Amino acid sequence: PVLYIVTPTFARREQVAELTRLAQTLLHVRNMIWFVIEDATKCSPMVGDLLDRFQIPYVQMLAPLPEIFSGQSQKPRGVSQRNAAIQFILSQSNPPEGVLYFADDDNTYDLRLFEDIRTTKKISMFPVGLVAGSSHSSPILKDGRLVGYSDPWFGKRKFPMDMAGFAINIRMLTYNPDRVAMPFMPGYEEDGFLKGLNFNWEDVEALAENCTKVWVWHTTTIEKSAPTFRFEQSDTNLQSLFQEL
Ligand code: UGA
Ligand code: MN
Repeated sequence: PVLYIVTPTFARREQVAELTRLAQTLLHVRNMIWFVIEDATKCSPMVGDLLDRFQIPYVQMLAPLPEIFSGQSQKPRGVSQRNAAIQFILSQSNPPEGVLYFADDDNTYDLRLFEDIRTTKKISMFPVGLVAGSSHSSPILKDGRLVGYSDPWFGKRKFPMDMAGFAINIRMLTYNPDRVAMPFMPGYEEDGFLKGLNFNWEDVEALAENCTKVWVWHTTTIEKSAPTFRFEQSDTNLQSLFQEL
C-alpha cells in the first residue's frame, strides 16, 4: 500500500532545516506520497525548491489557519492542513488505497516506523518518545490486546494520544466522510479526529513490536539565542543584522 505522509509546515527560521531533515528521512521510504501543506497564503518558493530537489513524489498545498483562530493564545497548529489533506483524498473520484500518517515537520522518525505502518488495515497505534516533558506516550497492552494508554496528560480525552502515535487506512476516511475532521481545539485535535472514525478497541493494531519500541519522537527545534522576531521568508534584507566594520 501507498503511504500518504501529511506534513503541516509554516514559515520560521527552522523551517528549511526541519524539512531537509525530514526529506532526507523520507528519501529512504519507497511507495509514498508526501503532502507538504503550508500554513500560508502563498506557496513558499524555498519549500518548493526543496521539494523539487529531493524528487520525492509530493503535493505542495496551502491551508492557512483561519483568521478566527489566529488571535488565540493557543493556536490549533497544523489542523487546517491535516483537514485539507483529508478533503483532498476524499475528493478523488476513486479514493486511493493506502495508509495515512500525520508527520509533523519537526519530529524524528525511525525508518522502521514507515514499513510498520504500511500494514495498517484499519488503525494502528504505537509509542511516541519525548512527549510533553515525559519519556513517552504509549498504548498499553495486556496479552497483546489494547487495555489503555499512558500519556503525561489525559485531559478527559477518550484517546489520550500524540499526533505521531497512530496511522489509519484510507478506507477509514471513506466510511463516514462527513464526520472525519480534526477539530480546531488545541490539545484535543487527536481525540476529536479519532472519535470521528468508526472503530473498536479490538480493531486497534499495535505496532512497533507490540508497542515495546519507540520509533518516532516528538522533538522540537528552538534556537533560543536567536532574535525573537518572526523570520519572513520574503525578507532578504539582512541589513538589520549587519554592522559595518
Ligand atoms: C503537538 C502535536 O504533535 C501537533 O500535531 C498538534 O497540532 C499540536 O501539539 C497542538 O496541539 O497544537 P507541537 O510540537 O506542540 O505539536 O506543535 P508544532 O510542532 O509547533 O506544530 C505541529 C505542526 O503544525 C508542525 O508540523 C508545524 O510545522 C505546524 N504548525 C505549527 C503550523 O502549521 N503553523 C503554526 O503556526 C505552528
Ligand atoms: Mn512539534
